[in-house]
Amino acid sequence: MKKGNKMFTIGVIGAGHVGLVTAACLAKLGHYVLCADNDEDKIKKLKKLVMPFYEPGLEEIVEHQYKKGNLLFTDSVKEVSEKCDVIFIAVGTPSTPDGSADLSYVENVTVEIARALCAFKERKKENIYRLIVEKSTVPVLTGQWVKKTFQLIGPTGIEFDIAANPEFLREGSAIKDFLEPDRVVVGVENERARKIFEHIYSKIKAPIVFTDVKSAELIKHASNCFLALKISYINAISQICERVGADIEKVAEGMGYDRRIGKDFLKAGIGWGGSCFPKDVAAFIKLAEEIGYPFNLLKEAQQINKQQRLLVIKKAKELLWNLKGKKISILGLSFKPNTDDIRESPAIEIIEMLLKEGSLIKSYDPKAMDNMRRIFPDIEYCNDAYECVKDTSLLILLTEWEEFRKLDFEKIKRLMESPNIIDGRNYLDKEKLKSIGFNYRGIGRN
Ligand code: UDX
Repeated sequence: MKKGNKMFTIGVIGAGHVGLVTAACLAKLGHYVLCADNDEDKIKKLKKLVMPFYEPGLEEIVEHQYKKGNLLFTDSVKEVSEKCDVIFIAVGTPSTPDGSADLSYVENVTVEIARALCAFKERKKENIYRLIVEKSTVPVLTGQWVKKTFQLIGPTGIEFDIAANPEFLREGSAIKDFLEPDRVVVGVENERARKIFEHIYSKIKAPIVFTDVKSAELIKHASNCFLALKISYINAISQICERVGADIEKVAEGMGYDRRIGKDFLKAGIGWGGSCFPKDVAAFIKLAEEIGYPFNLLKEAQQINKQQRLLVIKKAKELLWNLKGKKISILGLSFKPNTDDIRESPAIEIIEMLLKEGSLIKSYDPKAMDNMRRIFPDIEYCNDAYECVKDTSLLILLTEWEEFRKLDFEKIKRLMESPNIIDGRNYLDKEKLKSIGFNYRGIGRN
């Protein structure tokens, strides 16, 4: 691994969404980066520049930085531990059945790094310093555990610091979110670690909020939960709109102009999904409970989110009466557009409920069909939206992919058995669809 005139080399452990984007972007910022994953097949493919998932712009950066020699891949944590001065831990922290975060991957990696460094120190007699950075979303106090684990295993003669540098990347815009963030949050224990981060992010034009490790850990959970809460709030308002005949899109617009509220994350629909919000909200509720605070506000946000999925089935019944034997087309399977990710996608719960009712499902998504096939191998997957809607009596839009807005809805009406649409994202032109003759149902605006 070259170091050249760089101050240090950076290791990233975990080549998932967070890890790989972080590694690629750190290389783009001019650092030498070694990215590791224990999935050998994934690493082999990355070395052939085959991406493990779809993220706009990622492939180009990986290819460019890999060819320049700034970004390398390995399946060995030992190699990262030996060669890299700064090590970002970006492994998964999935939910356990009780909602708390499963931190065993973080623990295993910490132990692996500490053991590798013990062996390395035996061979190399010089002083070794390592900065270990939590990049995965972890509950507050995880840093303390990482430190204790390291201290227990680490031999004398290795100096190290622990830091928390949570990510705020959204899938689909992760590269931009990394390179042009609203802020960078860094929790450090001392000036030495702070200086390293100042260097790492020197090219980023955004405020860096330096704080202690615990506060940085909390900022991440508190931010994600606040955003989920904001979406659940507007979804609750959408229910009021439905009951009184108001339009949630107009209500959200009117609210959003108030800078204290803001326009973002005020989109009503079938609720939040993805790899972060559901997991983080559950983990934060659990953590709060463990430390003696019943976070009922967040529990209610979860409840409202669940209701939004049920609403689609209720609307389908209002349009079709019985759902048994009815052909229904689903446009959009990913949890949001511009990603092939279906983790906690509302589409999964909605398809499950429709199958229970006995409906026949045809589906189409520009990117996520291969992933969805693993969960529902027996529903129909179509080549395009037109094939999908053919002979169906209800179209349900679940993901706001741009191509769906450009569809020829006159043609769609001709292809469908009966012209019923549920727009789960309030994404389509309601007036136009009504004028064509569709029975249109949005969320909080009929
Ligand atoms: C989120 C956070 O935004 C990001 O900061 C964090 O690092 C990871 O989790 P992501 O899960 O990629 O990012 O998607 P995001 O764009 O935040 O959307 C999450 C979910 O909320 C999606 O299901 C989306 O459809 C839904 N959503 C979002 C709404 O229903 N309404 C909105 O107004 C915004």
